[in-house]
Amino acid sequence: MNTIILNGSPKGNSKNSNSQIFAKEFVRNMKNPCEIKCIAKADPRELAKYVESFDTIIIILPLYIHAMPGIVMKFIEGLEPATDEGKYIGFIVQAGFIETAQHRFIERYFADLAKQLNYKYLGTVSKGEAAGIYMFPKLFRKVLKLITELGMAYEKNHSFDKDIVKRLGKPYELTKFQSMIFELANKLGLNNVGWHRVLRKNNALDKRLDRPFL
Ligand SMILES: Cc1cc2nc3c(=O)[nH]c(=O)nc-3n(C[C@H](O)[C@H](O)[C@H](O)COP(=O)(O)O)c2cc1C
Repeated sequence: MNTIILNGSPKGNSKNSNSQIFAKEFVRNMKNPCEIKCIAKADPRELAKYVESFDTIIIILPLYIHAMPGIVMKFIEGLEPATDEGKYIGFIVQAGFIETAQHRFIERYFADLAKQLNYKYLGTVSKGEAAGIYMFPKLFRKVLKLITELGMAYEKNHSFDKDIVKRLGKPYELTKFQSMIFELANKLGLNNVGWHRVLRKNNALDKRLDRPFL
């Protein structure tokens, strides 16, 4: 199978893009690693034309404000419905919030999109709690290993391994107890420790509550 991986993050080919990290991990142990291209900065119509020569498109993207980045939407709008039966499309969505329940709307959209484009749908892999990966890759070693295994299984079977998808997708929703722990951590300001460090590094800590558009 001739597969192209597209990174849908606006950060493009940056070491700070978690989608790019996922893409590289996905192909890491493949015998014939797939080509990776970034949607950012590409001409969406030219890229849509380019991917026509592949049997399978896998888009790896973040959620920004609960939705796909606008550049991904623009690219999708440039795709023409397949005229033969041998086309496949799949998605890997990674995002900051822990619960992958947030992904259910985009998953439904992607399943429907595949139908509209006459592509066979490989499915959508969802991973939450991914925002910190580029900052603390060692903490996320297990997640990255799962992505590498997902890529190896994909190369072998041309599908997303159900067991790995299930593991990556947890938790779908937090239990009441877990929610209470997070609420407590929030009240104590523990959730902000990492973010405040980034804000401080960028001299933006005292501007964090600014509301320039109000
Ligand atoms: C402007 C902005 C909006 C975001 N909105 C969401 C969101 O609605 N839900 C979520 O889970 N994560 C959200 N995130 C976190 C990103 O999904 C997360 O950091 C992701 O790993 C970024 O991937 P990238 O580095 O490939 O762009 C947001 C991040 C930014 C910068």
